[in-house]
Amino acid sequence: MPIEESGDGMRISVVGCGYLGAVHAASMAELGHQVVGIDVDERKIGALNAARAPFYEPGFEDLLARTLATGRLRFSTDIADAAGAAVHFVCVGTPQKRGEYAADLRFVEAATESLLGVLAPGELVAGKSTVPVGTAGRLAELVADKVPGALLAWNPEFLREGFAVTDTLHPDRLVYGLPAGSDREVAERLLDEVYAPIVAAGTPKVVTDHATAEMVKTAANSFLATKISFINAMAELCEATGADVKQLADAIGYDDRIGRKFLNAGLGFGGGCLPKDIRAFMARAGELGADQALTFLREVDNINMRRRIRMVELAREVCDGSLLGKHIAVLGAAFKPDSDDIRDSPALNVAAQLQLQGADVRVTDPAAIDNARRLWPQLDYADTAEQAAASADAVLVLTEWRAYRELDPVAFGKVVASKRVLDGRNALDREAWTAAGWTYRALGRRAG
Ligand code: UDX
Repeated sequence: MPIEESGDGMRISVVGCGYLGAVHAASMAELGHQVVGIDVDERKIGALNAARAPFYEPGFEDLLARTLATGRLRFSTDIADAAGAAVHFVCVGTPQKRGEYAADLRFVEAATESLLGVLAPGELVAGKSTVPVGTAGRLAELVADKVPGALLAWNPEFLREGFAVTDTLHPDRLVYGLPAGSDREVAERLLDEVYAPIVAAGTPKVVTDHATAEMVKTAANSFLATKISFINAMAELCEATGADVKQLADAIGYDDRIGRKFLNAGLGFGGGCLPKDIRAFMARAGELGADQALTFLREVDNINMRRRIRMVELAREVCDGSLLGKHIAVLGAAFKPDSDDIRDSPALNVAAQLQLQGADVRVTDPAAIDNARRLWPQLDYADTAEQAAASADAVLVLTEWRAYRELDPVAFGKVVASKRVLDGRNALDREAWTAAGWTYRALGRRAG
Protein backbone atom coordinates (compact mmCIF):
# COMPACT_ATOMS: atom_id res chain seq x y z
CA MET A 1 0.00 0.00 0.00
CA PRO A 2 1.94 3.11 -1.16
CA ILE A 3 1.90 6.16 1.08
CA GLU A 4 1.54 9.43 -0.80
CA GLU A 5 3.45 12.52 0.25
CA SER A 6 1.26 15.18 1.83
CA GLY A 7 1.72 18.34 -0.28
CA ASP A 8 4.05 20.97 1.15
CA GLY A 9 4.13 19.34 4.51
CA MET A 10 4.21 20.72 8.03
CA ARG A 11 7.12 21.71 10.21
CA ILE A 12 7.77 18.99 12.75
CA SER A 13 10.34 18.45 15.49
CA VAL A 14 11.23 15.10 17.01
CA VAL A 15 12.99 15.20 20.38
CA GLY A 16 15.02 12.06 21.08
CA CYS A 17 16.64 10.25 18.16
CA GLY A 18 16.96 6.71 19.42
CA TYR A 19 15.20 3.80 17.83
CA LEU A 20 11.78 5.36 17.98
CA GLY A 21 12.68 8.99 17.29
CA ALA A 22 15.15 8.50 14.45
CA VAL A 23 12.76 6.23 12.57
CA HIS A 24 9.83 8.54 13.30
CA ALA A 25 11.72 11.63 12.10
CA ALA A 26 12.76 10.02 8.81
CA SER A 27 9.29 8.56 8.30
CA MET A 28 7.63 11.95 8.83
CA ALA A 29 9.99 13.43 6.21
CA GLU A 30 9.01 10.55 3.92
CA LEU A 31 5.38 11.67 4.32
CA GLY A 32 6.43 15.09 2.97
CA HIS A 33 6.99 17.09 6.16
CA GLN A 34 9.91 19.38 7.07
CA VAL A 35 11.48 17.60 10.02
CA VAL A 36 14.22 18.34 12.51
CA GLY A 37 15.36 15.56 14.82
CA ILE A 38 16.94 16.70 18.10
CA ASP A 39 19.17 14.72 20.45
CA VAL A 40 21.75 15.61 23.08
CA ASP A 41 24.12 12.87 21.82
CA GLU A 42 26.48 14.57 19.33
CA ARG A 43 27.79 11.29 17.92
CA LYS A 44 24.30 10.07 17.16
CA ILE A 45 23.36 13.34 15.46
CA GLY A 46 26.60 13.30 13.47
CA ALA A 47 25.91 9.78 12.26
CA LEU A 48 22.29 10.52 11.35
CA ASN A 49 23.24 13.68 9.40
CA ALA A 50 25.77 11.57 7.50
CA ALA A 51 22.97 9.08 6.67
CA ARG A 52 24.47 6.42 8.93
CA ALA A 53 22.07 4.51 11.18
CA PRO A 54 23.33 4.36 14.79
CA PHE A 55 21.58 0.96 15.13
CA TYR A 56 20.74 -2.01 12.93
CA GLU A 57 17.28 -1.76 11.43
CA PRO A 58 16.41 -3.18 8.00
CA GLY A 59 15.39 -0.46 5.54
CA PHE A 60 16.20 2.44 7.85
CA GLU A 61 19.47 3.55 6.28
CA ASP A 62 17.86 3.70 2.82
CA LEU A 63 14.98 5.75 4.18
CA LEU A 64 17.43 8.05 5.96
CA ALA A 65 19.55 8.62 2.85
CA ARG A 66 16.47 9.22 0.72
CA THR A 67 14.83 11.72 3.08
CA LEU A 68 18.06 13.60 3.90
CA ALA A 69 18.62 14.01 0.16
CA THR A 70 15.25 15.77 -0.23
CA GLY A 71 16.39 18.49 2.20
CA ARG A 72 13.27 17.92 4.29
CA LEU A 73 15.13 16.16 7.11
CA ARG A 74 17.98 17.28 9.34
CA PHE A 75 19.28 16.47 12.78
CA SER A 76 20.59 18.85 15.43
CA THR A 77 21.76 18.95 19.05
CA ASP A 78 20.22 22.39 19.56
CA ILE A 79 16.66 22.44 20.89
CA ALA A 80 16.32 26.00 19.50
CA ASP A 81 16.05 24.35 16.06
CA ALA A 82 12.68 22.95 17.13
CA ALA A 83 11.23 26.49 17.23
CA GLY A 84 8.42 27.08 14.78
CA ALA A 85 7.36 23.46 14.38
CA ALA A 86 3.61 22.90 14.50
CA VAL A 87 4.02 19.54 16.22
CA HIS A 88 6.84 18.49 18.56
CA PHE A 89 7.12 14.74 19.09
CA VAL A 90 8.69 13.50 22.33
CA CYS A 91 10.44 10.19 21.58
CA VAL A 92 12.94 9.77 24.41
CA GLY A 93 13.45 6.55 26.37
CA THR A 94 11.74 5.50 29.62
CA PRO A 95 14.07 2.82 31.00
CA GLN A 96 13.44 0.82 34.16
CA LYS A 97 14.72 2.58 37.28
CA ARG A 98 17.74 0.92 38.83
CA GLY A 99 16.63 -1.35 41.67
CA GLU A 100 12.92 -0.64 41.12
CA TYR A 101 10.15 -1.75 38.78
CA ALA A 102 9.01 1.79 37.98
CA ALA A 103 9.88 3.65 34.78
CA ASP A 104 12.48 6.40 34.92
CA LEU A 105 10.79 9.53 33.59
CA ARG A 106 13.79 11.82 33.78
CA PHE A 107 14.27 11.97 30.02
CA VAL A 108 10.60 12.60 29.22
CA GLU A 109 10.50 15.37 31.80
CA ALA A 110 13.75 16.92 30.57
CA ALA A 111 12.63 16.77 26.93
CA THR A 112 9.28 18.41 27.72
CA GLU A 113 10.93 21.09 29.82
CA SER A 114 13.47 21.84 27.09
CA LEU A 115 10.59 22.30 24.65
CA LEU A 116 8.95 24.89 26.91
CA GLY A 117 11.63 27.38 25.85
CA VAL A 118 10.71 27.16 22.15
CA LEU A 119 7.03 26.31 22.26
CA ALA A 120 4.44 28.84 21.01
CA PRO A 121 0.67 29.02 21.46
CA GLY A 122 -1.22 26.78 19.03
CA GLU A 123 1.65 24.29 18.79
CA LEU A 124 1.25 20.70 19.90
CA VAL A 125 3.55 18.55 22.02
CA ALA A 126 2.84 14.92 21.06
CA GLY A 127 4.30 12.33 23.41
CA LYS A 128 5.23 8.99 21.88
CA SER A 129 7.36 7.53 24.68
CA THR A 130 5.84 4.71 26.74
CA VAL A 131 4.90 6.30 30.07
CA PRO A 132 3.00 5.36 33.24
CA VAL A 133 -0.66 6.36 33.07
CA GLY A 134 -1.10 9.87 34.49
CA THR A 135 2.13 11.28 33.04
CA ALA A 136 0.47 13.03 30.08
CA GLY A 137 -2.05 14.78 32.31
CA ARG A 138 0.74 16.08 34.50
CA LEU A 139 2.85 17.25 31.55
CA ALA A 140 -0.20 18.87 29.92
CA GLU A 141 -0.67 21.01 33.02
CA LEU A 142 2.99 22.02 32.92
CA VAL A 143 2.74 22.99 29.24
CA ALA A 144 -0.52 24.92 29.73
CA ASP A 145 0.95 26.71 32.72
CA LYS A 146 4.20 27.78 31.04
CA VAL A 147 2.97 28.36 27.48
CA PRO A 148 -0.74 29.20 27.54
CA GLY A 149 -2.39 28.10 24.30
CA ALA A 150 0.11 25.28 23.61
CA LEU A 151 -1.36 21.76 23.67
CA LEU A 152 -0.27 18.27 24.62
CA ALA A 153 -1.45 14.94 23.22
CA TRP A 154 -0.30 11.36 23.80
CA ASN A 155 0.18 9.41 20.62
CA PRO A 156 1.75 6.02 21.42
CA GLU A 157 3.66 4.00 18.84
CA PHE A 158 3.68 0.23 18.47
CA LEU A 159 6.71 -0.33 16.26
CA ARG A 160 8.56 -3.61 16.45
CA GLU A 161 12.31 -3.64 16.08
CA GLY A 162 13.22 -5.24 12.77
CA PHE A 163 10.01 -3.81 11.23
CA ALA A 164 10.32 -0.25 12.54
CA VAL A 165 10.07 1.52 9.16
CA THR A 166 7.06 -0.46 7.91
CA ASP A 167 5.32 -0.24 11.29
CA THR A 168 5.78 3.55 11.34
CA LEU A 169 4.64 4.18 7.77
CA HIS A 170 1.91 1.52 7.78
CA PRO A 171 0.73 1.25 11.38
CA ASP A 172 -2.19 -1.06 12.14
CA ARG A 173 -3.84 1.72 14.14
CA LEU A 174 -3.42 5.34 15.22
CA VAL A 175 -4.17 6.26 18.81
CA TYR A 176 -4.69 9.90 19.79
CA GLY A 177 -4.90 10.72 23.49
CA LEU A 178 -6.27 14.26 23.40
CA PRO A 179 -6.88 17.05 25.91
CA ALA A 180 -10.47 17.83 26.90
CA GLY A 181 -12.57 20.78 25.74
CA SER A 182 -12.04 22.92 22.66
CA ASP A 183 -8.34 22.05 22.56
CA ARG A 184 -9.37 18.56 21.57
CA GLU A 185 -10.37 19.49 18.02
CA VAL A 186 -7.25 21.57 17.41
CA ALA A 187 -5.00 18.74 18.58
CA GLU A 188 -6.87 16.14 16.52
CA ARG A 189 -6.67 18.31 13.41
CA LEU A 190 -2.90 18.75 13.84
CA LEU A 191 -2.31 15.00 14.24
CA ASP A 192 -4.58 14.24 11.28
CA GLU A 193 -2.52 16.64 9.21
CA VAL A 194 0.73 14.94 10.28
CA TYR A 195 -0.62 11.49 9.44
CA ALA A 196 -2.78 12.58 6.48
CA PRO A 197 -1.62 9.85 4.06
CA ILE A 198 -1.92 7.19 6.74
CA VAL A 199 -5.40 8.35 7.73
CA ALA A 200 -6.39 8.51 4.05
CA ALA A 201 -5.25 4.91 3.63
CA GLY A 202 -8.11 3.92 5.97
CA THR A 203 -5.95 3.12 9.02
CA PRO A 204 -8.20 2.62 12.07
CA LYS A 205 -8.01 5.58 14.44
CA VAL A 206 -8.90 5.59 18.13
CA VAL A 207 -9.50 9.08 19.51
CA THR A 208 -9.50 9.12 23.26
CA ASP A 209 -8.24 10.81 26.43
CA HIS A 210 -4.67 10.99 27.73
CA ALA A 211 -5.00 8.16 30.25
CA THR A 212 -6.54 5.66 27.84
CA ALA A 213 -3.90 6.39 25.19
CA GLU A 214 -1.11 5.85 27.72
CA MET A 215 -2.70 2.60 28.84
CA VAL A 216 -3.23 1.27 25.30
CA LYS A 217 0.51 0.89 24.93
CA THR A 218 1.21 -0.83 28.25
CA ALA A 219 -1.90 -3.01 27.93
CA ALA A 220 -0.86 -4.13 24.44
CA ASN A 221 2.64 -5.05 25.58
CA SER A 222 1.27 -6.80 28.67
CA PHE A 223 -1.05 -8.88 26.50
CA LEU A 224 1.79 -9.87 24.17
CA ALA A 225 4.01 -10.80 27.13
CA THR A 226 1.17 -12.81 28.68
CA LYS A 227 0.61 -14.70 25.45
CA ILE A 228 4.27 -15.65 25.24
CA SER A 229 4.41 -16.69 28.90
CA PHE A 230 1.19 -18.68 28.50
CA ILE A 231 2.72 -20.86 25.82
CA ASN A 232 5.95 -21.11 27.80
CA ALA A 233 3.96 -22.30 30.83
CA MET A 234 2.46 -24.93 28.52
CA ALA A 235 6.03 -25.80 27.51
CA GLU A 236 6.85 -26.50 31.16
CA LEU A 237 3.89 -28.87 31.30
CA CYS A 238 4.90 -30.47 28.02
CA GLU A 239 8.34 -31.10 29.51
CA ALA A 240 6.66 -32.79 32.48
CA THR A 241 4.37 -34.94 30.36
CA GLY A 242 6.29 -35.64 27.16
CA ALA A 243 3.84 -33.61 25.06
CA ASP A 244 4.99 -31.30 22.24
CA VAL A 245 4.48 -27.55 22.69
CA LYS A 246 4.96 -26.69 19.03
CA GLN A 247 2.13 -28.96 17.92
CA LEU A 248 0.08 -27.73 20.85
CA ALA A 249 0.57 -24.10 19.71
CA ASP A 250 -0.35 -25.00 16.13
CA ALA A 251 -3.49 -26.78 17.26
CA ILE A 252 -4.79 -24.07 19.58
CA GLY A 253 -3.66 -21.34 17.17
CA TYR A 254 -6.13 -22.56 14.51
CA ASP A 255 -8.85 -21.17 16.74
CA ASP A 256 -9.35 -17.64 15.41
CA ARG A 257 -10.10 -16.40 18.89
CA ILE A 258 -6.63 -17.49 20.03
CA GLY A 259 -4.53 -17.05 16.87
CA ARG A 260 -1.07 -18.52 16.22
CA LYS A 261 0.92 -15.26 16.44
CA PHE A 262 3.07 -14.75 19.56
CA LEU A 263 2.61 -18.39 20.55
CA ASN A 264 6.18 -19.42 19.80
CA ALA A 265 7.48 -21.18 22.86
CA GLY A 266 11.19 -21.00 23.64
CA LEU A 267 13.52 -18.78 25.55
CA GLY A 268 10.86 -16.13 26.09
CA PHE A 269 10.71 -12.39 25.66
CA GLY A 270 13.42 -9.80 26.17
CA GLY A 271 14.34 -6.46 24.63
CA GLY A 272 13.93 -2.84 25.60
CA CYS A 273 10.12 -2.89 25.85
CA LEU A 274 8.18 -5.93 27.02
CA PRO A 275 10.11 -6.72 30.24
CA LYS A 276 10.38 -3.16 31.50
CA ASP A 277 6.89 -2.17 30.37
CA ILE A 278 5.13 -4.93 32.31
CA ARG A 279 7.18 -4.07 35.41
CA ALA A 280 6.44 -0.35 35.12
CA PHE A 281 2.76 -1.19 34.64
CA MET A 282 2.76 -3.24 37.86
CA ALA A 283 4.54 -0.45 39.73
CA ARG A 284 2.04 2.13 38.52
CA ALA A 285 -0.92 -0.09 39.43
CA GLY A 286 0.56 -0.33 42.93
CA GLU A 287 0.81 3.47 43.20
CA LEU A 288 -2.82 3.72 42.15
CA GLY A 289 -3.94 1.17 44.74
CA ALA A 290 -4.92 -1.28 42.01
CA ASP A 291 -1.96 -3.67 42.27
CA GLN A 292 -4.20 -6.76 42.53
CA ALA A 293 -5.34 -6.17 38.96
CA LEU A 294 -1.83 -6.82 37.68
CA THR A 295 -0.38 -9.42 40.07
CA PHE A 296 -0.70 -11.94 37.23
CA LEU A 297 2.02 -10.01 35.40
CA ARG A 298 4.45 -10.98 38.14
CA GLU A 299 3.81 -14.61 37.19
CA VAL A 300 4.19 -13.72 33.49
CA ASP A 301 7.61 -12.27 34.35
CA ASN A 302 8.54 -15.32 36.48
CA ILE A 303 7.58 -17.84 33.82
CA ASN A 304 9.65 -15.86 31.34
CA MET A 305 12.77 -15.76 33.54
CA ARG A 306 12.43 -19.50 34.38
CA ARG A 307 12.92 -20.37 30.72
CA ARG A 308 16.44 -18.95 30.80
CA ILE A 309 17.31 -21.08 33.83
CA ARG A 310 15.78 -24.16 32.20
CA MET A 311 17.89 -23.57 29.09
CA VAL A 312 21.06 -23.62 31.17
CA GLU A 313 19.88 -26.85 32.85
CA LEU A 314 19.17 -28.42 29.47
CA ALA A 315 22.67 -27.51 28.32
CA ARG A 316 24.09 -29.14 31.44
CA GLU A 317 22.00 -32.27 30.79
CA VAL A 318 23.23 -32.69 27.22
CA CYS A 319 26.82 -32.05 28.35
CA ASP A 320 26.67 -35.23 30.46
CA GLY A 321 25.76 -33.41 33.69
CA SER A 322 28.60 -30.89 33.89
CA LEU A 323 29.34 -27.60 32.17
CA LEU A 324 32.89 -27.34 33.51
CA GLY A 325 35.34 -26.85 30.67
CA LYS A 326 32.71 -27.65 28.03
CA HIS A 327 32.99 -25.71 24.82
CA ILE A 328 29.58 -24.27 24.01
CA ALA A 329 28.65 -22.33 20.88
CA VAL A 330 25.85 -19.80 21.27
CA LEU A 331 24.25 -18.71 18.00
CA GLY A 332 22.52 -15.38 18.57
CA ALA A 333 23.13 -12.48 20.95
CA ALA A 334 20.39 -10.02 19.95
CA PHE A 335 17.09 -10.25 21.85
CA LYS A 336 15.43 -11.19 18.58
CA PRO A 337 16.41 -11.60 14.91
CA ASP A 338 16.92 -8.62 12.58
CA SER A 339 18.07 -6.43 15.44
CA ASP A 340 21.39 -5.55 17.09
CA ASP A 341 19.60 -4.74 20.34
CA ILE A 342 20.91 -6.71 23.30
CA ARG A 343 18.86 -5.05 26.04
CA ASP A 344 17.64 -7.83 28.33
CA SER A 345 18.59 -10.37 25.69
CA PRO A 346 17.60 -13.91 26.75
CA ALA A 347 20.39 -15.29 24.54
CA LEU A 348 23.14 -13.26 26.22
CA ASN A 349 21.67 -13.97 29.65
CA VAL A 350 21.98 -17.72 29.00
CA ALA A 351 25.46 -17.35 27.48
CA ALA A 352 26.66 -15.45 30.56
CA GLN A 353 25.12 -18.00 32.97
CA LEU A 354 26.87 -20.85 31.12
CA GLN A 355 30.18 -19.03 31.27
CA LEU A 356 29.76 -18.25 34.97
CA GLN A 357 29.14 -21.93 35.57
CA GLY A 358 32.44 -22.95 34.04
CA ALA A 359 31.68 -23.49 30.36
CA ASP A 360 33.87 -22.02 27.67
CA VAL A 361 31.30 -20.04 25.67
CA ARG A 362 31.75 -18.65 22.18
CA VAL A 363 28.98 -16.36 20.92
CA THR A 364 28.19 -15.25 17.41
CA ASP A 365 25.51 -13.01 15.90
CA PRO A 366 25.07 -11.43 12.46
CA ALA A 367 24.57 -7.91 13.88
CA ALA A 368 24.93 -7.68 17.66
CA ILE A 369 28.50 -8.80 18.39
CA ASP A 370 29.89 -5.29 18.93
CA ASN A 371 27.12 -4.41 21.37
CA ALA A 372 27.44 -7.77 23.11
CA ARG A 373 31.19 -7.43 23.47
CA ARG A 374 30.78 -4.08 25.21
CA LEU A 375 28.34 -5.54 27.75
CA TRP A 376 29.97 -8.97 28.26
CA PRO A 377 33.67 -8.62 27.42
CA GLN A 378 34.42 -11.85 29.29
CA LEU A 379 32.61 -13.97 26.69
CA ASP A 380 34.40 -15.12 23.52
CA TYR A 381 33.04 -13.95 20.20
CA ALA A 382 33.25 -15.39 16.68
CA ASP A 383 32.28 -13.88 13.34
CA THR A 384 30.49 -16.90 11.93
CA ALA A 385 28.41 -19.82 13.19
CA GLU A 386 31.08 -22.23 11.92
CA GLN A 387 33.84 -20.43 13.84
CA ALA A 388 31.74 -20.34 17.00
CA ALA A 389 30.94 -24.03 16.70
CA ALA A 390 34.43 -25.29 15.85
CA SER A 391 35.08 -28.27 18.15
CA ALA A 392 32.02 -27.44 20.26
CA ASP A 393 30.54 -29.92 22.72
CA ALA A 394 27.10 -28.40 22.19
CA VAL A 395 25.51 -25.75 19.98
CA LEU A 396 22.74 -23.52 21.35
CA VAL A 397 20.54 -21.62 18.88
CA LEU A 398 19.19 -18.80 21.03
CA THR A 399 18.13 -16.12 18.52
CA GLU A 400 16.33 -17.39 15.42
CA TRP A 401 18.17 -15.44 12.72
CA ARG A 402 17.33 -16.78 9.29
CA ALA A 403 20.97 -17.75 8.70
CA TYR A 404 20.76 -20.11 11.69
CA ARG A 405 17.36 -21.52 10.77
CA GLU A 406 18.78 -22.36 7.36
CA LEU A 407 22.03 -23.98 8.53
CA ASP A 408 22.73 -27.26 6.77
CA PRO A 409 22.92 -29.80 9.64
CA VAL A 410 25.07 -32.17 7.57
CA ALA A 411 27.80 -29.66 6.72
CA PHE A 412 27.57 -27.98 10.13
CA GLY A 413 27.97 -31.36 11.83
CA LYS A 414 31.50 -31.57 10.44
CA VAL A 415 32.83 -28.60 12.46
CA VAL A 416 31.66 -29.60 15.95
CA ALA A 417 33.19 -32.10 18.39
CA SER A 418 29.79 -33.52 19.40
CA LYS A 419 26.60 -33.21 17.39
CA ARG A 420 24.38 -31.84 20.14
CA VAL A 421 22.04 -28.98 19.34
CA LEU A 422 19.69 -27.08 21.65
CA ASP A 423 17.00 -25.21 19.79
CA GLY A 424 16.14 -22.34 22.14
CA ARG A 425 13.56 -20.87 19.78
CA ASN A 426 11.94 -24.01 18.33
CA ALA A 427 13.13 -22.70 15.00
CA LEU A 428 15.09 -25.60 13.51
CA ASP A 429 13.82 -28.51 11.43
CA ARG A 430 14.05 -31.24 14.05
CA GLU A 431 13.75 -34.10 11.54
CA ALA A 432 16.56 -32.75 9.34
CA TRP A 433 18.90 -32.29 12.31
CA THR A 434 18.20 -35.71 13.82
CA ALA A 435 18.52 -37.32 10.37
CA ALA A 436 21.99 -35.74 10.14
CA GLY A 437 22.94 -37.50 13.37
CA TRP A 438 22.44 -34.66 15.83
CA THR A 439 21.00 -35.05 19.33
CA TYR A 440 18.25 -32.44 19.22
CA ARG A 441 16.79 -30.86 22.38
CA ALA A 442 14.30 -28.01 22.66
CA LEU A 443 12.22 -26.38 25.37
CA GLY A 444 8.80 -27.99 25.62
CA ARG A 445 9.57 -30.83 23.22
CA ARG A 446 10.69 -34.43 23.51
CA ALA A 447 14.33 -35.24 22.90
CA GLY A 448 14.94 -35.92 19.20
C1 UDX B 1 7.45 -4.95 21.23
C2 UDX B 1 6.02 -4.85 20.71
O1 UDX B 1 5.74 -5.94 19.81
C3 UDX B 1 5.82 -3.53 20.00
O2 UDX B 1 4.48 -3.39 19.56
C4 UDX B 1 6.17 -2.41 20.96
O3 UDX B 1 6.05 -1.16 20.33
C5 UDX B 1 7.59 -2.58 21.50
O4 UDX B 1 7.73 -3.87 22.09
P1 UDX B 1 9.82 -5.56 20.16
O5 UDX B 1 10.40 -5.37 21.53
O6 UDX B 1 10.52 -4.98 18.98
O7 UDX B 1 8.32 -4.98 20.11
O8 UDX B 1 9.74 -7.12 19.93
P2 UDX B 1 8.64 -8.26 19.73
O9 UDX B 1 8.63 -8.66 18.31
O10 UDX B 1 7.36 -7.92 20.36
O11 UDX B 1 9.34 -9.45 20.54
C6 UDX B 1 9.58 -9.32 21.95
C7 UDX B 1 10.25 -10.55 22.51
O12 UDX B 1 9.34 -11.64 22.54
C8 UDX B 1 11.47 -11.04 21.71
O13 UDX B 1 12.49 -11.40 22.64
C9 UDX B 1 10.95 -12.27 20.98
O14 UDX B 1 11.96 -13.20 20.74
C10 UDX B 1 9.92 -12.80 21.98
N1 UDX B 1 8.85 -13.63 21.38
C11 UDX B 1 8.01 -13.10 20.47
C12 UDX B 1 8.69 -14.94 21.80
O15 UDX B 1 9.42 -15.45 22.66
N2 UDX B 1 7.67 -15.69 21.24
C13 UDX B 1 6.82 -15.19 20.33
O16 UDX B 1 5.91 -15.92 19.88
C14 UDX B 1 6.99 -13.86 19.90
